[in-house]
Amino acid sequence: MTWLICGDSSLWSCAQQIAHYYQLKVNSDWPTEAQEYQLLLDHSGLSLARSCSDKSRVQVDFCGGANDHRRRFGGGKGQDIAKAVGVASYVPQVADLTAGLGRDAFVLASLGCRVQALERHPVVAALLADGLARAGNAQGEWPLSYELPAEEVRQIAQRIRLQHIGAAQWLAQQRDDSIDVVYLDPMFAHDGRQKAQVKKDMQAFRSLVGSDDDADELLAEALRVARCRCVVKRARKAAPLAQQQPTYELVGKANRFDVYAKRKVEAPH
Ligand SMILES: C[S@@+](CC[C@H](N)C(=O)[O-])C[C@H]1O[C@@H](n2cnc3c(N)ncnc32)[C@H](O)[C@@H]1O
Repeated sequence: MTWLICGDSSLWSCAQQIAHYYQLKVNSDWPTEAQEYQLLLDHSGLSLARSCSDKSRVQVDFCGGANDHRRRFGGGKGQDIAKAVGVASYVPQVADLTAGLGRDAFVLASLGCRVQALERHPVVAALLADGLARAGNAQGEWPLSYELPAEEVRQIAQRIRLQHIGAAQWLAQQRDDSIDVVYLDPMFAHDGRQKAQVKKDMQAFRSLVGSDDDADELLAEALRVARCRCVVKRARKAAPLAQQQPTYELVGKANRFDVYAKRKVEAPH
């Protein structure tokens, strides 16, 4: 059980709305029986923290830090993810079935893609919704308002539509060939060697989410719904999803993109 902790009385009604929407328990103090990481709400937004004074909280930040650096210096259409998704003169619409903290969705949106981002874990979805709100995309249900960021970041964030839903349920509601590209990045199963290299924010994230052992079951439906292709991000040496060989692979330093192609990525005729 993850709690939403809010010690600031001026934010209490926001905390209650967030807790209601994501079905979290809310408290003004750090609960004694709490697990390691909890959601914390203060004037800087929502974060995942070990205590109220935790200096290395995990927060979704599209306006600064790694997301901003990647937006400015990440290589644009030359990045493997752009090639895997097929961004060229036609910019495809993408369904990101496993949005997580939204890093890939933000890269795709910064390349011009409209992204339907799905996240099933309530705490992760709340963190991502808060990051999007701070980037200028508050999607209706979000009770906090923040100062607007730079126009470019705001425009990118507005291309992302977050839904707190499981991918299997969402896919079942879609018609055949209804979105250009379906993108999947399930949590990799990891071993001790990888763990030593994992950064703090990923450790917090992993302890919260665990591994996505049901991801194999999504591929067939993802291929039905994708008009042009399905892209799966894997650890460099991991087996392909559902043991199904892709049409081709793009192998990078740490990751691999498996591309399951159906037709050329271009505007529908
Ligand atoms: C490895 S993370 C994705 C990281 C993301 N690509 C990014 O760039 O930040 C996987 C995320 O997918 C979510 N997830 C896994 N299976 C899902 C499903 N069937 N439906 C919706 N979300 C799912 C997990 O809760 C987790 O947050």
